[in-house]
Amino acid sequence: MASLLFHTKLLFLCFVAGLQFACGLVQYKPQQIHISSSSANQMIVVWSTFDDTKDSLVFYGKNKGGLRSLASGKSTKFVDGGSAHHTQYIHEVVLDDLDADTVYFYIVGSYSEGFSDVLSFTTWPAGNNWSPRLAIYGDFGNANAQSLPRLQLEAATGMYDAVLHVGDFAYNMATDNAQVGDEFMRQIEPLASSIPYMTCPGNHEYAYNFSNYKNRFRMPGDTDQQMYYSFKMGPVRFISTATEYFFFPKYGMYQMFRHYDWLKKELEDANKPENRAKQPWVIAFGHRPMYCSNNDHDDCTANESVVRAGFLGHLGWEKLFYDNGVDIAIWAHEHSYERLWPIYNREVKNGSTSHPYTNPTAPVHITTGSAGCQEGHDRFNKTMPAWSAFRSDDYGYTRMKVFNATHLYMEQVSDDQGGAVIDKIMVVKDKHGSYPYDASPIKPVGGSEIYNKLQNLLRKGGEGLP
Ligand SMILES: [Fe+2]
Repeated sequence: MASLLFHTKLLFLCFVAGLQFACGLVQYKPQQIHISSSSANQMIVVWSTFDDTKDSLVFYGKNKGGLRSLASGKSTKFVDGGSAHHTQYIHEVVLDDLDADTVYFYIVGSYSEGFSDVLSFTTWPAGNNWSPRLAIYGDFGNANAQSLPRLQLEAATGMYDAVLHVGDFAYNMATDNAQVGDEFMRQIEPLASSIPYMTCPGNHEYAYNFSNYKNRFRMPGDTDQQMYYSFKMGPVRFISTATEYFFFPKYGMYQMFRHYDWLKKELEDANKPENRAKQPWVIAFGHRPMYCSNNDHDDCTANESVVRAGFLGHLGWEKLFYDNGVDIAIWAHEHSYERLWPIYNREVKNGSTSHPYTNPTAPVHITTGSAGCQEGHDRFNKTMPAWSAFRSDDYGYTRMKVFNATHLYMEQVSDDQGGAVIDKIMVVKDKHGSYPYDASPIKPVGGSEIYNKLQNLLRKGGEGLP
């Protein structure tokens, strides 16, 4: 017994001192396994080991007992910026010869150091004539991840083809020398290893220039380490954006301009008639909303939010979205759910009084940041603005089903109310593309509000701003 106690104490000391190797402990077992995708024939498989392995392999096949296909990839050393310099190896393997609409079983690991348990995913149907189903949420932590069990169960029953996690992970991935990030990634593994887990960065990823986010995730396109990218899914082009470039200029001002140029080109490309014919729905998502009616002082509560209106009339995204016919804009950051009437430049643009979401003349915005985290709820102002259609601060998440080129359905699940659907809309569009010319386009804003924001950003380096 005394010997066992000594051994346990020694191992503990080894951990504390970061001397695992000297103490003979190795950590080769694959963990934090997650996947992403951009086509019916491809899956990007990512996992971590705390010690390096000689190779990064995925064995896969259509039968659990017949994993006869092999793909190899690479590992990248990731050292967290904290004082412990917590080190792990992020492995990435791209499977690009998959059959569409097919269940695959797979294991990840190394010939010499061992493999994971057997996992599985289902590839997307081919082409654009199918109906993607997604779970969508932001602001999802390690502690108080209230929606997680329900999401896991729903994913396990085959309810979703992908997840969109709209920024703010773990709270925070870099906390406690990135151990919170490790635990969060292990926590979501049952979900994220079975359906593509598509992401964008939020403010909680800011530490060390977003390095935990940039290193842990691999998204298709790989633009600035997946800070922004796009992917096609059936009749939808999803465009993932990085609102955080506006708020952390201490990491560089130029990336704000570069992102704007990329977003403009991406939206224009999506809106070309030949592309719009294949992907009629254009859905943009990013962490911080353009509009919200919460009772905090976040950017979206301002009349001229930075994401919407930019600085002194430059770099704002709302006009880009409007000019290029973005159908749906999805946000998070506020720990609540809010659905807006179709809106442009703070004016409601309903399709009609009786059918506001049928052929609306501006994008439809929703904010869904209430999956659950240790920071709790964000409450609303008592007065509901004219542009706000429905709001709830229950914990929960959004489901989306894109039926076809004309019909897109969204509903809000309240986990607080046992999974009840508390809101739903069908967006109907006979035609997609640029909205009608608006007689009152966004004007360059010269008011003190934006000027003060810019000054604040430059003075404080962005950190600590709402
Ligand atoms: Fe946030």
